Amino acid sequence: MTQYCRIIQSFFTLLLLLCHATSAGGAAEGPAPKDMEFFERPIRPLLAQNCYSCHGGDNQFGSLRLDSQARVMKGGKSGPAVVPGKPEESLLIKAVRHETLQMPLGRNKLKGEEIAALEEWVRAGAPWPEEAPAKLSTGYPDFYKKLTQEHWAFQPVRKPELPNVSRVSWARTPIDRFILASLEKAGLAPAPSADKQTLVRRLSFVLTGLPPTVKDIESFFQDRSADPYERLVDRLMASPHFGEQWARHWLDLMRFGETHGYEWNYEIIGPWRYRDYLIRAFNSDVPYDQLVREHIAGDLLQKPRINLQERINESVIGTTSFRLGGGSRRLHSISRDRLRCSRQSD
Ligand code: HEC
Repeated sequence: MTQYCRIIQSFFTLLLLLCHATSAGGAAEGPAPKDMEFFERPIRPLLAQNCYSCHGGDNQFGSLRLDSQARVMKGGKSGPAVVPGKPEESLLIKAVRHETLQMPLGRNKLKGEEIAALEEWVRAGAPWPEEAPAKLSTGYPDFYKKLTQEHWAFQPVRKPELPNVSRVSWARTPIDRFILASLEKAGLAPAPSADKQTLVRRLSFVLTGLPPTVKDIESFFQDRSADPYERLVDRLMASPHFGEQWARHWLDLMRFGETHGYEWNYEIIGPWRYRDYLIRAFNSDVPYDQLVREHIAGDLLQKPRINLQERINESVIGTTSFRLGGGSRRLHSISRDRLRCSRQSD
């Protein structure tokens, strides 16, 4: 269950990231995101490490600067360094292949894959993201870098080795092994297994926030199938109360309230719409990425989710989350960013 909470928490990180990315990306024109990504890694670091000391801000040997698209196109004393789409005709490519000049001068020739990347970049038209004016620089690249390197949500999924434990037979699933390993490390023994009645109660509270009904208990006790526990979990997750319980965690993170807070504490008009939207979303298994998208830009989706039964556009409601929680500066600053994003793309 902590897994769930962590997923919900990572939503915020993602929200921040996406918003910053959109505002940094700016207006609609310019290279496609794929091209930009390709430029940022590997092309930009490659040029920066191998060429800028002689073709950057400090030195311009051969009258050549390679630190902006315009300068690359203008080229040096022999003319344009790159002919977009044509690696064979591009001076820069010839130079790194050691066909004409031998660049980077006085250093090892670039690796085969580096040369190939440069060729591919030229072939793709030498895309180069528009540079933000230096004075507007916000330090976001460092922020992203640190975040994506350190935050667990950005690490690739991997299957770790199972830890060694002494009571191997206690562990019924691989996850148990991790729990047991920590217990043993702390010199603790696992608690005895819960009886059936306790189990139903716990599951019911965790999944629905409510005590089990008599029917829940009876069907669990009478279930003679091979997987009564799994079937109980399925039944509880199918309950409409599952969405109510789990939407509450999300609502907490969104600082949900029915008034704005502060001195005047105005009522928010219709906040229940957002609350009910979330409950429906949890109960109908809306994928996580879809829910995040709806929060950020539910009003701009090409194919919004339409709820035929209620005759409403669900996706739009996600965006109303920005109006919740007067006390939350973070959300307010996000919504300011978002307003800026939409103004830029108008
Ligand atoms: C240590 C300094 C140094 C480094 C590093 C270096 N260059 Fe050069 N580059 C030069 C010098 C000097 C010239 C002028 C050579 C000449 O005209 O004979 C030159 C010229 C060029 C030219 C021809 C410019 C023109 O219009 O005549 C190209 C293209 C070029 N370099 C590409 C690169 C690339 C690409 C890199 C990085 C992979 C690189 N250089 C790294 C020193 C350097």
